[in-house]
Amino acid sequence: MKRNRLNVNIAGLQLANPTILASGILGYSVATLQSIVEGGAGAVITKSVGLKPRQGYANPTVVQTKCGLINAMGLPNPGIDEFVNEIREAKTVLDVPLIVSVYGFSEEEYALAAKKAAGAGADALELNVSCPHVKETGSEIGQNSEILAEVVRKAKAAVSKPVFVKLAPNVTDIAEIAETAARAGADAITAINTVKAMAIDAETAMPILSNKKGGLSGQAIKPIAVRCVYEVYERVKIPIIGCGGVTDWRDAVEFLLAGASAVQIGTAIATKGPNVFKTVSSGVNTYLKRKGFRSVKEIVGLSHRN
Ligand code: SIN
Repeated sequence: MKRNRLNVNIAGLQLANPTILASGILGYSVATLQSIVEGGAGAVITKSVGLKPRQGYANPTVVQTKCGLINAMGLPNPGIDEFVNEIREAKTVLDVPLIVSVYGFSEEEYALAAKKAAGAGADALELNVSCPHVKETGSEIGQNSEILAEVVRKAKAAVSKPVFVKLAPNVTDIAEIAETAARAGADAITAINTVKAMAIDAETAMPILSNKKGGLSGQAIKPIAVRCVYEVYERVKIPIIGCGGVTDWRDAVEFLLAGASAVQIGTAIATKGPNVFKTVSSGVNTYLKRKGFRSVKEIVGLSHRN
């Protein structure tokens, strides 16, 4: 990789720039991931995959609001045994790190899904302990510190690849949860997943999503995410990846200054297209140059100085 001021290292993964495709609304196909890489992403994260295939919820699963998207897809996925084929194929065509997001309904399920993904070539795993609306997984796991610690420990024991842990904002103290994950061996924290939300149709007087409640993403949640990153940075030493409402270079810089080593982008792809990664990176590069910084690393957590 050509060295430049945008290069970052996250738990041993070398990224050409600090923008990463967030696990979330995009599908699984290798072609989709490839288009995101062509759009300039420094790494990509798949949608969450579990041990068994899941259909997810009935439509509508996404609703556009004035301030962002609310989704409740219900973790639809083909199951890890099918998905390993996508991972293998993706590894032959993508020239950026491939991170596979996994979920489970028990510690063992997280570990087994992680092991199968790593065995197929995933460069790292992201544990989804933060989906806000599927029972007995996601945030129900991430909110229980004993279970969370065991999920992380078992996943770490099952793979030799870096393990990231994606946290929910819908908690009293996200920094405490990050500390639990770090003590259990997490290599990096992703902050944050979507904010629990809902929308009601005034005409039908009914919730719009088939699942009624979902998770809000997009610009509205950026200040919440920046605050979460700031708090987590004060408590853990492992890298943090900021996620929530990144739309332009200023958003990315704000996350870096709060303590993130990289940022994930998801919802902005819907409005700006895959090239949003290039636009954000190039804006960060111009900012670093203008301010006289030689690398992204130099501004990580800079807002914490007294
Ligand atoms: C979903 O599949 O419903 C979204 C997953 C998540 O929010 O983590």
